[in-house]
Amino acid sequence: MSSARIVVVGTGYVGLTTGACLASLGHQVTCVDVDKAKIARLAAGRVDIMEPGLAELVTRGLTSRRLSFVVGARDAVADADGVFLCVPTPMGAGGAADLRAVEAVAAEIRDGLPSGCTLITKSTVPVGTSARIRDLLRRDDLPVVSNPEFLREGTAVADFLGPDRIVVGSDDLDAARWVAELYRDLAAPTVVTDAASAELVKYAANCFLAIKLSYVNSIAELCERLGADIDAVTDGMGHDRRIGRSFLRPGPGWGGSCLPKDTSALLNIAESVRFDFGLLSAAVDENLFQRDRIISKIAGAVGGNLSAARIGLLGLAFKAGTNDLRDSPALAVASVLCAHGAEVTAYDPAVGGELPGMTVVDDAYRVAKDADVVVVLTEWQEFRRLDWAHIGELMAGDAVVDTRNLLDPGAILDAGLSWQGIGRPRRQ
Ligand code: UGA
Repeated sequence: MSSARIVVVGTGYVGLTTGACLASLGHQVTCVDVDKAKIARLAAGRVDIMEPGLAELVTRGLTSRRLSFVVGARDAVADADGVFLCVPTPMGAGGAADLRAVEAVAAEIRDGLPSGCTLITKSTVPVGTSARIRDLLRRDDLPVVSNPEFLREGTAVADFLGPDRIVVGSDDLDAARWVAELYRDLAAPTVVTDAASAELVKYAANCFLAIKLSYVNSIAELCERLGADIDAVTDGMGHDRRIGRSFLRPGPGWGGSCLPKDTSALLNIAESVRFDFGLLSAAVDENLFQRDRIISKIAGAVGGNLSAARIGLLGLAFKAGTNDLRDSPALAVASVLCAHGAEVTAYDPAVGGELPGMTVVDDAYRVAKDADVVVVLTEWQEFRRLDWAHIGELMAGDAVVDTRNLLDPGAILDAGLSWQGIGRPRRQ
């Protein structure tokens, strides 16, 4: 296959990254969305989401005419070789994935698809969705392939163009191989399998990561109670190649638009086949305990009473490198502090505007002004480089709670402040 004609439905961070990257691999790509204003902005080369390298790829695609943006999927698919479904699958009733957007697109394009066109699901969908889409299409000349994405927010372009693996699954293996060929220039290991297995890989991977993080946060709690240091413990664990060094950083809990949604969805899938996935539900519960422990730590730092305490927060996004607040543990912690009557001022380099109950400022030093405690909630590297002596002068109290073990405790102590991290001895 040389260049294929591809339509990508949905221009969220997955769809837009997929479209722009496939165009950069030489394919002819049309990206479609229902949001007219968004399509107009994208057609003019304006990218709203914060994703390094994406705006450049979009501009390059537009200039080379390999990438275009249109409203209306039905007309766009008329001469497509393949159609990627990249629409949202939010958490629906009871934690199951809400497939209404996928179903609506399938219904819209059904009669416009040329014979032999391959439908590819990239959205994380429950096992069995490929079969359901085939039923919805009510045509037997349209193969359906599951091709889950493994893109992290903030590194989506790099993840797409340098993947650890490519997974394609279908009950029509020729169609699965055709989709794998779209990526041949990436030279990544490729898993070609059946539809159900490909659909399950995505959940199995994300839920494993969630379990790994809940495990690390539990070990961090043990470290605190036993007088050990989590950084040394994870360093010692990570050298074991079977464990690996990544995804071992303790924090305020895992969040974002994927891990919480996918853990709920897999629990739901397990329940549907009467499997009690106790290991996964324990990881979800542990994630909530972790938030409670962070709140207690902050309360302890202000003498036990959060009501009317002045709290400065550094970070609101669910992780550094993104402005995404969806299921952000930082935001959840902030909301609980506000609900307890604390006076909360927050700064995040990527988040502006207004948030209920708190004051969002545009300068890190403003959160320190008269604060009883300053709390790091997102691991933005720039927080390490703040002038902590100046922060010490601005604060009313002397406590720094670092929920990401990001700061250099020495610099905090030199500023006359106390430092408390996660799973590490307190320093004062
Ligand atoms: C996650 C997966 O990592 C991707 O592989 C997957 O494609 C994506 O979901 C998805 O399903 O689309 P993402 O949600 O962007 O990516 O974020 P991660 O980098 O995985 O971080 C998830 C959460 O874990 C964040 O709250 C982060 O702060 C936390 N985390 C991560 C830690 O607390 N410690 C770590 O060591 C790593």
